[in-house]
Amino acid sequence: MDRFDRACARIRDQQDCWLVTGVAGFIGSNLLEALLAMNQQVVGLDNFSTGSPDNLEQVRSAVSPNTWPNFRFIEGDIRDLETCREAVAGVDHVLHQAALGSVPRSIADPIGTNQANVDGFLNMLVATRDEGVNRFVYAASSSTYGDHPDLPKVEHNIGNPLSPYAVTKYVNELYAEVFSRSYGLPSLGLRYFNIFGPRQDPNGAYAAVIPRWIAAMVEGEPAQIYGDGETSRDFCYIQNAVQANLLAATAENEDALDQVYNVAVGSRTSLNELYQLIRGELQALIPGLDPPPPEYTEFRPGDVRHSLADIQKAKTLLGYEPSHSIAEGMKESVRWYAKRLLPN
Ligand SMILES: NC(=O)c1ccc[n+]([C@@H]2O[C@H](COP(=O)([O-])OP(=O)(O)OC[C@H]3O[C@@H](n4cnc5c(N)ncnc54)[C@H](O)[C@@H]3O)[C@@H](O)[C@H]2O)c1
Repeated sequence: MDRFDRACARIRDQQDCWLVTGVAGFIGSNLLEALLAMNQQVVGLDNFSTGSPDNLEQVRSAVSPNTWPNFRFIEGDIRDLETCREAVAGVDHVLHQAALGSVPRSIADPIGTNQANVDGFLNMLVATRDEGVNRFVYAASSSTYGDHPDLPKVEHNIGNPLSPYAVTKYVNELYAEVFSRSYGLPSLGLRYFNIFGPRQDPNGAYAAVIPRWIAAMVEGEPAQIYGDGETSRDFCYIQNAVQANLLAATAENEDALDQVYNVAVGSRTSLNELYQLIRGELQALIPGLDPPPPEYTEFRPGDVRHSLADIQKAKTLLGYEPSHSIAEGMKESVRWYAKRLLPN
């Protein structure tokens, strides 16, 4: 039995109450599904700014009818401190995911991004501190590495932020650190690297590349690749991110607290390789599908060229061991999207 299996067994035994903010979003709704499947009580907070009621409906259909009543949803905004206090009341664990999570959105609207990602984050820290919850687990971001040239990215070497979004995510880490120092609230920040999988929105204005390409290929449209396609990322399947959250929330090792962790797979895939991987999976699933060649467009401002994580710290201190490679995750994701996009 590895550390994650043991953590899951402990979670099942304890039947705790968890707060997941951003619960109607991609990562939040997958956390909800995993927690309900382990028979936990879950409070969810979301204002549906980028998440959707449909994501919650999908979780309801995926879990057993007995467990759905263990979920209490609060439609509300983390920019309101009283709402955060209401959400955190009586919970044992906080998994803070709510944020406006897009680089282009932050360039178009830095004030809106700051309000959700910094003001909202600070409200959640204050509410968690005042409730006396014993730690704060939150979504950080690989964008914090900014222009630092080293590959792979190691947690203690960061560069200058390249977008307002990256500034907000770095400020989150600074606030979390200071709340530990000033008020004794330990925290664990998870620097996600391009998480993908079911329920990532293919239709939103700032949609992530994987669901957008799958949708384009199924519809016979050319997928749009920003730049020359040699930009690379450490794409990480959602179940790996779920694992990291559960390990962070239950870590017993004192050294694991007050740290940030890369959450990734530790391997790098270029956009051109990603395109071929998705295309291959779709063609295996839909005989005769022949998507047109991709369209190469301008590089996006604020995008870093290459990203690759060193995941040793999460392995050592949390016992994190990615369960899915990019190929395994892509197989699951393509199946999931194709089922929803195809007529039958
Ligand atoms: N998906 C990734 O690859 C990735 C990478 C790095 C960091 N992150 C971070 O992970 C977290 C979750 O991202 P995601 O991909 O699930 O995005 P998402 O947009 O699907 O989910 C975010 C959720 O937060 C909610 N939300 C936003 N502002 C809110 C507010 N003011 N009050 C209440 N709810 C609010 C949205 O409605 C949405 O449901 C975010 O903090 C994001 O910055 C994600």
